[in-house]
Amino acid sequence: MGIKLPSRGMLMTTSDLIKQLFLSFNDKDSESFFQAAREYIEHEKRKKHIMVAKELEKALYASNGSNASSEKGKRFKNNTPIPRDTEKGFPLLEIQHFDINFDNLLMSQAEKQQLVQIIKEFKDSDIFATYNLQNKRKILLCGKPGTGKTFTAQIISSLLQIPLVYIRFDSIISSYLGETASNLRKVFDFIESGTWIALFDEFDIIGKNRDDNHEHGEIKRVVNNFLQMLDNIKGDSILFAATNHQYMLDPAIWRRFDDIIYYELPDENVRKELFELYLKPIKKDSGIDLPKAVNMTKSLSHADIKMITEEAMKLSILDSRRCLEQCDIENAINKFIRREKVKNNQMGDN
Ligand SMILES: Nc1ncnc2c1ncn2[C@@H]1O[C@H](COP(=O)(O)OP(=O)(O)OP(=O)(O)O)[C@@H](O)[C@H]1O
Ligand SMILES: [Mg+2]
Repeated sequence: MGIKLPSRGMLMTTSDLIKQLFLSFNDKDSESFFQAAREYIEHEKRKKHIMVAKELEKALYASNGSNASSEKGKRFKNNTPIPRDTEKGFPLLEIQHFDINFDNLLMSQAEKQQLVQIIKEFKDSDIFATYNLQNKRKILLCGKPGTGKTFTAQIISSLLQIPLVYIRFDSIISSYLGETASNLRKVFDFIESGTWIALFDEFDIIGKNRDDNHEHGEIKRVVNNFLQMLDNIKGDSILFAATNHQYMLDPAIWRRFDDIIYYELPDENVRKELFELYLKPIKKDSGIDLPKAVNMTKSLSHADIKMITEEAMKLSILDSRRCLEQCDIENAINKFIRREKVKNNQMGDN
Protein backbone atom coordinates (compact mmCIF):
# COMPACT_ATOMS: atom_id res chain seq x y z
CA MET A 1 0.00 0.00 0.00
CA GLY A 2 1.46 3.39 -0.99
CA ILE A 3 1.87 6.03 1.66
CA LYS A 4 0.95 9.49 0.49
CA LEU A 5 3.24 12.32 1.44
CA PRO A 6 1.63 15.74 1.68
CA SER A 7 2.15 18.03 -1.31
CA ARG A 8 5.22 20.29 -1.33
CA GLY A 9 3.27 23.20 0.11
CA MET A 10 2.43 21.32 3.35
CA LEU A 11 5.63 20.97 5.32
CA MET A 12 5.89 17.93 7.59
CA THR A 13 7.57 17.90 10.97
CA THR A 14 10.64 15.76 11.59
CA SER A 15 8.62 13.26 13.62
CA ASP A 16 5.99 13.01 10.82
CA LEU A 17 8.75 12.16 8.38
CA ILE A 18 10.36 9.57 10.64
CA LYS A 19 6.92 8.02 11.16
CA GLN A 20 6.51 7.83 7.38
CA LEU A 21 9.86 6.09 7.12
CA PHE A 22 8.84 3.49 9.73
CA LEU A 23 5.47 2.90 8.11
CA SER A 24 6.92 2.41 4.67
CA PHE A 25 9.58 0.09 6.11
CA ASN A 26 6.82 -2.00 7.72
CA ASP A 27 4.87 -2.04 4.47
CA LYS A 28 8.06 -2.99 2.57
CA ASP A 29 7.13 -0.13 0.29
CA SER A 30 10.53 0.95 -1.00
CA GLU A 31 9.09 3.66 -3.22
CA SER A 32 7.42 5.56 -0.40
CA PHE A 33 10.40 4.86 1.87
CA PHE A 34 12.58 6.52 -0.73
CA GLN A 35 10.14 9.41 -1.11
CA ALA A 36 10.01 9.99 2.67
CA ALA A 37 13.80 9.76 2.89
CA ARG A 38 14.17 12.36 0.12
CA GLU A 39 11.66 14.60 1.88
CA TYR A 40 13.66 14.26 5.11
CA ILE A 41 16.86 15.24 3.31
CA GLU A 42 15.11 18.31 1.86
CA HIS A 43 13.94 19.10 5.38
CA GLU A 44 17.55 19.08 6.60
CA LYS A 45 18.60 21.28 3.68
CA ARG A 46 15.92 23.83 4.51
CA LYS A 47 17.38 23.96 8.01
CA LYS A 48 20.75 24.66 6.35
CA HIS A 49 22.15 21.36 7.70
CA ILE A 50 23.98 20.89 4.43
CA MET A 51 26.58 18.39 5.65
CA VAL A 52 23.93 16.25 7.35
CA ALA A 53 21.87 16.33 4.15
CA LYS A 54 24.88 15.30 2.09
CA GLU A 55 25.71 12.41 4.45
CA LEU A 56 22.10 11.21 4.34
CA GLU A 57 22.05 11.45 0.57
CA LYS A 58 25.25 9.40 0.39
CA ALA A 59 23.73 6.79 2.71
CA LEU A 60 20.49 6.67 0.72
CA TYR A 61 22.22 6.07 -2.60
CA ALA A 62 24.93 3.77 -1.24
CA SER A 63 24.65 0.01 -1.56
CA ASN A 64 26.15 -2.71 0.66
CA GLY A 65 26.60 -5.13 -2.20
CA SER A 66 29.56 -5.26 -4.52
CA ASN A 67 27.45 -4.06 -7.46
CA ALA A 68 27.01 -0.63 -5.96
CA SER A 69 26.79 1.26 -9.21
CA SER A 70 24.15 -0.98 -10.81
CA GLU A 71 22.08 -0.73 -7.62
CA LYS A 72 22.39 3.03 -7.86
CA GLY A 73 21.30 2.89 -11.47
CA LYS A 74 18.19 0.91 -10.50
CA ARG A 75 17.25 3.34 -7.79
CA PHE A 76 17.50 6.31 -10.09
CA LYS A 77 15.40 4.53 -12.67
CA ASN A 78 12.71 3.60 -10.18
CA ASN A 79 12.46 6.82 -8.32
CA THR A 80 13.80 9.66 -10.38
CA PRO A 81 12.74 9.21 -13.98
CA ILE A 82 15.12 10.64 -16.53
CA PRO A 83 13.35 13.53 -18.27
CA ARG A 84 12.60 13.03 -21.95
CA ASP A 85 12.03 15.26 -24.93
CA THR A 86 8.29 15.70 -25.43
CA GLU A 87 8.37 15.51 -29.23
CA LYS A 88 10.78 12.66 -29.83
CA GLY A 89 10.99 10.97 -26.44
CA PHE A 90 14.79 10.82 -26.30
CA PRO A 91 16.42 11.19 -22.86
CA LEU A 92 17.50 14.74 -22.13
CA LEU A 93 20.34 13.74 -19.84
CA GLU A 94 22.49 10.84 -18.82
CA ILE A 95 23.65 9.86 -15.34
CA GLN A 96 27.28 8.81 -15.39
CA HIS A 97 29.63 7.42 -12.73
CA PHE A 98 33.39 7.90 -12.89
CA ASP A 99 36.42 6.77 -10.98
CA ILE A 100 39.29 8.98 -12.12
CA ASN A 101 42.14 10.28 -10.00
CA PHE A 102 42.60 14.06 -9.72
CA ASP A 103 46.31 13.61 -10.55
CA ASN A 104 45.29 12.52 -14.06
CA LEU A 105 44.23 16.07 -14.84
CA LEU A 106 47.32 17.91 -16.04
CA MET A 107 47.06 21.65 -16.28
CA SER A 108 48.74 24.81 -15.05
CA GLN A 109 48.89 25.30 -11.30
CA ALA A 110 46.68 28.39 -11.37
CA GLU A 111 43.82 26.60 -13.18
CA LYS A 112 44.13 23.56 -10.96
CA GLN A 113 44.04 25.77 -7.90
CA GLN A 114 40.68 27.14 -9.05
CA LEU A 115 39.33 23.59 -9.16
CA VAL A 116 40.76 22.74 -5.76
CA GLN A 117 38.98 25.77 -4.33
CA ILE A 118 35.64 24.73 -5.87
CA ILE A 119 35.99 21.30 -4.25
CA LYS A 120 36.99 22.75 -0.88
CA GLU A 121 34.14 25.27 -0.98
CA PHE A 122 31.64 22.47 -1.66
CA LYS A 123 32.93 20.50 1.32
CA ASP A 124 32.75 23.57 3.56
CA SER A 125 29.40 24.82 2.30
CA ASP A 126 27.75 24.39 5.70
CA ILE A 127 30.42 26.55 7.35
CA PHE A 128 29.97 29.16 4.59
CA ALA A 129 26.22 29.14 5.24
CA THR A 130 26.79 30.33 8.81
CA TYR A 131 28.46 33.43 7.31
CA ASN A 132 25.66 33.76 4.77
CA LEU A 133 28.09 32.80 2.01
CA GLN A 134 27.53 30.25 -0.75
CA ASN A 135 30.05 27.90 -2.26
CA LYS A 136 30.75 28.31 -5.98
CA ARG A 137 28.06 26.35 -7.82
CA LYS A 138 27.96 27.68 -11.36
CA ILE A 139 31.17 27.39 -13.28
CA LEU A 140 31.97 28.16 -16.89
CA LEU A 141 34.71 26.05 -18.46
CA CYS A 142 36.09 27.55 -21.64
CA GLY A 143 39.07 27.25 -23.94
CA LYS A 144 40.46 25.19 -26.81
CA PRO A 145 39.11 21.72 -27.71
CA GLY A 146 40.76 18.74 -26.05
CA THR A 147 42.15 20.63 -23.07
CA GLY A 148 40.10 18.86 -20.38
CA LYS A 149 36.80 20.70 -19.92
CA THR A 150 34.57 17.61 -20.03
CA PHE A 151 37.28 15.62 -18.24
CA THR A 152 37.23 18.15 -15.38
CA ALA A 153 33.53 17.59 -14.65
CA GLN A 154 34.13 13.82 -14.71
CA ILE A 155 37.04 14.13 -12.28
CA ILE A 156 35.14 16.38 -9.87
CA SER A 157 32.25 13.92 -9.96
CA SER A 158 34.71 11.10 -9.04
CA LEU A 159 36.37 13.10 -6.34
CA LEU A 160 33.18 14.14 -4.59
CA GLN A 161 31.54 10.75 -5.32
CA ILE A 162 28.50 12.47 -6.74
CA PRO A 163 27.15 11.16 -10.06
CA LEU A 164 27.52 13.33 -13.13
CA VAL A 165 24.37 14.49 -14.88
CA TYR A 166 25.54 14.93 -18.45
CA ILE A 167 23.49 17.21 -20.67
CA ARG A 168 24.44 17.89 -24.26
CA PHE A 169 23.23 21.43 -24.64
CA ASP A 170 22.80 21.20 -28.41
CA SER A 171 20.72 18.02 -28.29
CA ILE A 172 18.22 19.72 -26.00
CA ILE A 173 17.83 22.43 -28.58
CA SER A 174 17.94 20.19 -31.67
CA SER A 175 15.15 20.62 -34.18
CA TYR A 176 12.18 21.85 -32.18
CA LEU A 177 13.29 25.20 -30.81
CA GLY A 178 9.81 25.73 -29.33
CA GLU A 179 10.29 22.64 -27.17
CA THR A 180 13.55 23.88 -25.79
CA ALA A 181 12.18 25.89 -22.88
CA SER A 182 10.15 22.95 -21.61
CA ASN A 183 13.11 20.58 -22.12
CA LEU A 184 15.35 22.91 -20.15
CA ARG A 185 12.73 23.19 -17.39
CA LYS A 186 12.61 19.40 -17.12
CA VAL A 187 16.38 19.19 -16.89
CA PHE A 188 16.55 21.87 -14.19
CA ASP A 189 13.72 20.20 -12.24
CA PHE A 190 15.67 16.96 -12.35
CA ILE A 191 18.86 18.66 -11.14
CA GLU A 192 16.93 20.30 -8.30
CA SER A 193 15.65 16.87 -7.20
CA GLY A 194 19.04 15.88 -5.80
CA THR A 195 22.69 16.74 -5.42
CA TRP A 196 24.56 16.30 -8.67
CA ILE A 197 27.54 17.43 -10.63
CA ALA A 198 25.74 18.70 -13.74
CA LEU A 199 27.56 19.34 -16.98
CA PHE A 200 25.94 21.34 -19.79
CA ASP A 201 28.40 20.27 -22.43
CA GLU A 202 28.89 21.74 -25.90
CA PHE A 203 27.45 25.05 -24.75
CA ASP A 204 28.95 26.46 -27.98
CA ILE A 205 25.69 26.12 -29.91
CA ILE A 206 25.58 29.91 -29.62
CA GLY A 207 28.81 30.17 -31.55
CA LYS A 208 27.83 27.59 -34.17
CA ASN A 209 24.71 29.46 -35.28
CA ARG A 210 26.26 32.89 -35.58
CA ASP A 211 26.00 32.99 -39.37
CA ASP A 212 22.29 32.29 -39.49
CA ASN A 213 20.58 35.43 -38.21
CA HIS A 214 17.15 33.90 -37.76
CA GLU A 215 18.50 30.84 -35.95
CA HIS A 216 20.80 33.04 -33.97
CA GLY A 217 17.86 35.11 -32.65
CA GLU A 218 16.11 31.91 -31.55
CA ILE A 219 19.23 30.60 -29.91
CA LYS A 220 19.66 33.87 -28.04
CA ARG A 221 16.19 33.41 -26.59
CA VAL A 222 17.10 29.88 -25.56
CA VAL A 223 20.25 31.12 -23.89
CA ASN A 224 18.29 33.81 -22.02
CA ASN A 225 15.91 31.11 -20.89
CA PHE A 226 18.82 29.02 -19.70
CA LEU A 227 20.28 31.98 -17.82
CA GLN A 228 17.01 32.65 -16.01
CA MET A 229 16.83 29.04 -14.88
CA LEU A 230 20.47 29.20 -13.87
CA ASP A 231 19.77 32.31 -11.78
CA ASN A 232 16.89 30.67 -9.95
CA ILE A 233 18.17 27.13 -9.49
CA LYS A 234 17.73 25.65 -6.01
CA GLY A 235 19.67 22.92 -4.27
CA ASP A 236 23.37 22.36 -3.82
CA SER A 237 24.38 20.73 -7.10
CA ILE A 238 27.44 22.10 -8.87
CA LEU A 239 26.69 23.16 -12.46
CA PHE A 240 29.33 23.33 -15.16
CA ALA A 241 28.84 24.73 -18.66
CA ALA A 242 31.58 24.02 -21.20
CA THR A 243 32.31 25.90 -24.42
CA ASN A 244 35.02 26.40 -27.04
CA HIS A 245 33.49 29.69 -28.16
CA GLN A 246 33.66 31.88 -25.10
CA TYR A 247 34.29 34.94 -27.30
CA MET A 248 30.77 34.49 -28.72
CA LEU A 249 29.09 34.58 -25.34
CA ASP A 250 26.91 37.50 -24.49
CA PRO A 251 28.37 39.72 -21.73
CA ALA A 252 25.24 38.95 -19.67
CA ILE A 253 26.33 35.33 -19.44
CA TRP A 254 29.62 35.96 -17.73
CA ARG A 255 28.30 37.45 -14.51
CA ARG A 256 25.90 34.51 -14.02
CA PHE A 257 28.83 32.22 -13.27
CA ASP A 258 30.58 32.13 -9.90
CA ASP A 259 33.83 31.15 -11.55
CA ILE A 260 35.31 30.95 -15.03
CA ILE A 261 38.12 28.57 -15.82
CA TYR A 262 40.09 29.09 -18.98
CA TYR A 263 41.80 26.01 -20.38
CA GLU A 264 45.12 26.78 -22.04
CA LEU A 265 46.94 24.53 -24.47
CA PRO A 266 49.58 22.59 -22.52
CA ASP A 267 52.91 24.37 -22.05
CA GLU A 268 56.24 22.58 -22.28
CA ASN A 269 56.11 21.22 -18.72
CA VAL A 270 52.55 19.97 -19.04
CA ARG A 271 53.32 18.34 -22.40
CA LYS A 272 56.20 16.46 -20.78
CA GLU A 273 53.93 15.33 -17.95
CA LEU A 274 51.32 14.20 -20.50
CA PHE A 275 53.86 12.04 -22.34
CA GLU A 276 55.01 10.54 -19.05
CA LEU A 277 51.46 9.88 -17.83
CA TYR A 278 50.09 8.34 -21.00
CA LEU A 279 53.20 6.32 -21.83
CA LYS A 280 53.32 4.82 -18.35
CA PRO A 281 51.82 1.44 -19.37
CA ILE A 282 54.71 0.56 -21.69
CA LYS A 283 58.39 -0.21 -21.17
CA LYS A 284 60.63 2.41 -22.79
CA ASP A 285 63.92 2.21 -24.63
CA SER A 286 66.75 4.14 -22.95
CA GLY A 287 67.19 6.20 -26.12
CA ILE A 288 63.80 7.89 -25.80
CA ASP A 289 64.16 11.65 -26.19
CA LEU A 290 61.08 13.12 -24.52
CA PRO A 291 62.26 16.76 -24.75
CA LYS A 292 62.35 16.32 -28.55
CA ALA A 293 58.79 14.94 -28.55
CA VAL A 294 57.72 17.82 -26.33
CA ASN A 295 59.27 20.23 -28.78
CA MET A 296 57.57 18.61 -31.78
CA THR A 297 54.11 18.92 -30.19
CA LYS A 298 53.95 22.68 -29.63
CA SER A 299 50.40 23.99 -30.03
CA LEU A 300 48.81 20.54 -29.69
CA SER A 301 46.17 19.88 -27.05
CA HIS A 302 46.16 17.43 -24.16
CA ALA A 303 43.78 15.15 -26.07
CA ASP A 304 46.04 15.32 -29.18
CA ILE A 305 49.05 14.23 -27.13
CA LYS A 306 47.04 11.42 -25.57
CA MET A 307 46.10 10.23 -29.07
CA ILE A 308 49.77 10.38 -30.18
CA THR A 309 50.92 8.32 -27.19
CA GLU A 310 48.29 5.67 -27.88
CA GLU A 311 49.34 5.49 -31.51
CA ALA A 312 53.02 5.26 -30.54
CA MET A 313 52.34 2.36 -28.16
CA LYS A 314 50.31 0.55 -30.83
CA LEU A 315 53.11 0.95 -33.39
CA SER A 316 55.59 -0.61 -30.99
CA ILE A 317 53.22 -3.47 -30.03
CA LEU A 318 52.31 -4.23 -33.65
CA ASP A 319 56.01 -4.39 -34.46
CA SER A 320 56.39 -7.04 -31.70
CA ARG A 321 59.08 -5.04 -29.98
CA ARG A 322 59.68 -5.37 -26.25
CA CYS A 323 59.79 -1.67 -25.65
CA LEU A 324 58.76 1.68 -27.07
CA GLU A 325 61.36 3.47 -29.18
CA GLN A 326 61.88 7.08 -30.19
CA CYS A 327 60.84 6.27 -33.76
CA ASP A 328 57.39 5.13 -32.57
CA ILE A 329 56.79 8.47 -30.90
CA GLU A 330 58.07 10.49 -33.84
CA ASN A 331 56.09 8.42 -36.37
CA ALA A 332 52.97 8.91 -34.31
CA ILE A 333 53.58 12.68 -34.08
CA ASN A 334 54.17 12.94 -37.84
CA LYS A 335 51.02 10.92 -38.57
CA PHE A 336 49.09 13.27 -36.32
CA ILE A 337 50.50 16.39 -37.96
CA ARG A 338 49.57 15.00 -41.40
CA ARG A 339 46.07 14.30 -40.18
CA GLU A 340 45.77 17.89 -38.94
CA LYS A 341 46.90 19.16 -42.34
CA VAL A 342 44.15 17.12 -44.03
CA LYS A 343 41.66 18.49 -41.54
CA ASN A 344 42.76 22.07 -42.15
CA ASN A 345 42.90 21.62 -45.92
CA GLN A 346 46.67 22.25 -46.07
CA MET A 347 47.68 19.29 -48.24
CA GLY A 348 48.44 21.43 -51.28
CA ASP A 349 45.70 19.85 -53.49
CA ASN A 350 44.41 21.92 -56.40
N1 LIG B 1 44.20 18.57 -18.91
C1 LIG B 1 44.25 17.28 -19.23
N2 LIG B 1 45.04 16.42 -18.53
C2 LIG B 1 45.09 15.12 -18.86
N3 LIG B 1 44.37 14.55 -19.86
C3 LIG B 1 43.56 15.35 -20.58
C4 LIG B 1 43.46 16.75 -20.29
N4 LIG B 1 42.60 17.29 -21.16
C5 LIG B 1 42.16 16.30 -21.95
N5 LIG B 1 42.73 15.13 -21.60
C6 LIG B 1 42.46 13.82 -22.23
O1 LIG B 1 41.74 14.05 -23.44
C7 LIG B 1 40.41 13.53 -23.37
C8 LIG B 1 39.44 14.49 -24.05
O2 LIG B 1 39.42 15.73 -23.33
P1 LIG B 1 38.06 16.52 -23.05
O3 LIG B 1 36.93 15.79 -23.68
O4 LIG B 1 37.95 16.81 -21.62
O5 LIG B 1 38.34 17.86 -23.85
P2 LIG B 1 37.39 19.15 -23.95
O6 LIG B 1 38.16 20.30 -23.45
O7 LIG B 1 36.10 18.85 -23.31
O8 LIG B 1 37.25 19.25 -25.54
P3 LIG B 1 36.02 19.83 -26.41
O9 LIG B 1 36.08 21.32 -26.28
O10 LIG B 1 36.31 19.37 -27.79
O11 LIG B 1 34.75 19.24 -25.86
C9 LIG B 1 40.14 13.35 -21.89
O12 LIG B 1 39.19 12.33 -21.66
C10 LIG B 1 41.53 12.99 -21.35
O13 LIG B 1 41.79 11.63 -21.56
MG1 LIG C 1 34.19 18.58 -24.05
